[in-house]
Amino acid sequence: MSRVQLPEITDDMVTLEYNYAIRDKILYCRPPEDLRIRMLDFSNYCKNITNTEQKQNMRMQLAGDISREIPILFDHDKQLEKDFTNYLIEALSKFLFDSPVLDITLYKAWVNYMKKYEYNPLHQHPNAKISLVWYLDYPEEIRQEHQQQLNDFDENRSRGMVYFSSNFSHDHMTMNPKTGDMFLFHATHKHAVYPFYTDNTRISMSCNISNIFVRSVMGSKEEVFL
Ligand SMILES: [Fe+2]
Repeated sequence: MSRVQLPEITDDMVTLEYNYAIRDKILYCRPPEDLRIRMLDFSNYCKNITNTEQKQNMRMQLAGDISREIPILFDHDKQLEKDFTNYLIEALSKFLFDSPVLDITLYKAWVNYMKKYEYNPLHQHPNAKISLVWYLDYPEEIRQEHQQQLNDFDENRSRGMVYFSSNFSHDHMTMNPKTGDMFLFHATHKHAVYPFYTDNTRISMSCNISNIFVRSVMGSKEEVFL
């Protein structure tokens, strides 16, 4: 089964699942608009203060062929880190568990300034349990590029889109996100980003979550192993 979400998903928060590989589900959600704007402004701030060595270190750790991948320096805005973390705790509580999530550990966060022809090959995120991508600024012109492709079927269109491939079946999903959309997924869930061809910059933030703590049936704080 393949699936293309066109032109957009309209629910605020919904779990997307394959027919035969439920474990590889994806949580689609839309964090509050003011949080998106704060994160976008902070990403641009980090871009301006990050030195060349920090940028090179970030690029060496990531899979994409993207010229500008910037670390998110939460030490410079602890309140934003706290508000962002609280939103993720709320989202993860709905996504993964019956019991509420109490706390999480952010392992790494970065932002991609993707230009035309750049792409992210099929990859996973090592050393993490859950990963996410959040589209802070997604020009509408990129979202419409698929209409210039001459494929008869929506599922064969790919320009600028994000592709997820199940580890447990031959299923995949291809999505055409918009500004403000966020996807949370298991860190081992393989995904890729196809190039676009217009003169735009797409700004997306990614983050890895390494530890997740819930309240156990006995009432104590307990780490979850996925
Ligand atoms: Fe990724």
